[in-house]
Amino acid sequence: MYHNIVLIGMMGSGKSTIGRQISQQYDIQFSDTDTLIEQEINEPIRTFFDKHGEAAFRKIETGCCKTLLTYKNHVIATGGGIVLAAKNREILAKAGFIVYLYTPLEQILHRLEKDTTRPLLATPDKTTRIRELLEFRDPLYRATSHATIDTTDTTPEALATQIWRLYTIKNSTGI
Ligand code: S3P
Repeated sequence: MYHNIVLIGMMGSGKSTIGRQISQQYDIQFSDTDTLIEQEINEPIRTFFDKHGEAAFRKIETGCCKTLLTYKNHVIATGGGIVLAAKNREILAKAGFIVYLYTPLEQILHRLEKDTTRPLLATPDKTTRIRELLEFRDPLYRATSHATIDTTDTTPEALATQIWRLYTIKNSTGI
């Protein structure tokens, strides 16, 4: 029995948008690990990264990840890099039904073209950075998730319905 839905995937894959949609459509609580982190550090992730670096951020991310184990009936959007640490992957596996929101490179590039909030994209060549991140992380997202859903050309409403259906089928059949 899975107690939560956990959304993983690249920055710009729509984890927060789709998470909120599931929360509204099915009346369950929405949480976002980036928000949990910002509540703890009391500043935007971008400035924390600039001051303390990625390793410090990842440590806090793992701490927040552990709190997910206390959740029930939540849909949880996670930061794109959450799958990097083996410890986090272990925690997520216990936290709920994990869905990888797969988004092709071109769409991610398009959605994040003007983004200034993601520290990892503060580089002159965003395209190369995103391509490298996606290539490295895609196998991790796939290995960590129970289901992969392609977000291309689909509305948040339709994706929410699709994810909810998978979640309830898994829980009722136990398969
Ligand atoms: C990160 C993704 C961000 C945030 C941080 C690092 C990453 O979250 O956790 O900037 O490593 O991909 P989103 O995926 O919600 O943008």
